[in-house]
Amino acid sequence: MIPRAPKGTDDILPPESERWRTALRTFDDLADRYGYQLALTPIFEHTELFARGVGEDTDVVEKQMYTFEDRGGRSLTLRPEATASVVRAHLDRGGDGILKVAYAGPMFRYEQPQAGRRRQFLQVGVEYIGEPSPEADVEVIEVGYRCLQACGIGDASVLLNSIGDPEDRVAYRDLLFRFLDQHRDDLSTEAARRIDTNPLRALDSKQDETVLEGAPVPIDHLGSAARAHHAAVEAGLRRQGIPFVADPRLVRGLDYYNRTVFEYQAASYQVAQAALGGGGRYDPLAAMLGGSDTPGVGLAMGVDRIVLAMPDVVDAPALDAFVVWTGDERLEAALVVASSLRAAGFSADLDLSGKSVRSQFRAADRRRATAAIVVGSEWDEGLVTVKRLASGEESTMTLEGTQAWLKNR
Ligand code: HAM
Repeated sequence: MIPRAPKGTDDILPPESERWRTALRTFDDLADRYGYQLALTPIFEHTELFARGVGEDTDVVEKQMYTFEDRGGRSLTLRPEATASVVRAHLDRGGDGILKVAYAGPMFRYEQPQAGRRRQFLQVGVEYIGEPSPEADVEVIEVGYRCLQACGIGDASVLLNSIGDPEDRVAYRDLLFRFLDQHRDDLSTEAARRIDTNPLRALDSKQDETVLEGAPVPIDHLGSAARAHHAAVEAGLRRQGIPFVADPRLVRGLDYYNRTVFEYQAASYQVAQAALGGGGRYDPLAAMLGGSDTPGVGLAMGVDRIVLAMPDVVDAPALDAFVVWTGDERLEAALVVASSLRAAGFSADLDLSGKSVRSQFRAADRRRATAAIVVGSEWDEGLVTVKRLASGEESTMTLEGTQAWLKNR
């Protein structure tokens, strides 16, 4: 028996993988346009990075990490997220100045798999490090929102909240603790357990919504700096035309945040009320890792979820040209033709196996090519026949003519 892919992992193959490619290209293009350069960080890290950065009593660190000992006896963990790594990398090289980076890659969390909730999943994200201004928060939120829009998820919206600064939360934490303690018996075991370890984490418990309706929320207990910051973020989002909805109980599942937190939702993705993406400001993170104070804000989105929410549009032709060749001796000519088209910037492919012309045309259709470029007897005069596959219309021309034809099609 052929071994199967492990539970909660997927093989993403054509034609489905084209949707993934569209999402990845859309994100890459947007990140580039907003000035985010590429960051590549390790897929495994010292376990301590996440224990300290993400937080010991978060779900992610408590129950979801793939942790193992390597042959040298080090405790390593497959990254459950990338923000802690990017901040670590920035601190490693001195932690000075502004770092604006984008990333795309697999993350790992041991979760109960379902649609859009995988054990290995693909995240895209940006981190804007070194900038305390609320305009950075607005920019980051905008990148994710525009990415979802460009992927065709027109009904995406932003849920927004502020959880204040750590010092604002000291008094608030007591207040919340008292409320939760009074309702201890009405809360789920999971939420009740959080009361003593991390009460803020109990606040977004989906199964305790009715009890939590009367709970004090962080946004009503912001210090003046956090309040002014939040007002500026809201004003910035309005200015940039990004629709958002206030969600006072949004706290996020990772411990490094302060002030702005947000998530993206869409009616077209309603699986288990889960978010398409999320992020926030994480000014405390650098110090949690042992570095000097460094502000930062970022977002990450799950590509597994984006592709589920993307509309089923018929994609544009996948290939510009499929080169069809006749007679055994014309394979080499066909390779020269394909390579010259590729060098000129067109996508082109061909069948190498010497199948019949009919089956080569079938392959051209399968790849949704705009044109078949036929290398037949006319090649002896340096000519090819270009056939528009949608209409069947044909004309014979030089190779340069083919390029002009493809450009003006
Ligand atoms: P997160 O909310 O844990 O944030 O994950 C961000 C997104 O990754 C989620 O909204 C979801 O789309 C996707 N995701 C998370 N877990 C899974 C899973 N098991 N299966 C499929 N998709 C999943 C972070 O990871 C932060 N690092 C975001 C951030 C960046 N904050 C600041 N900068």
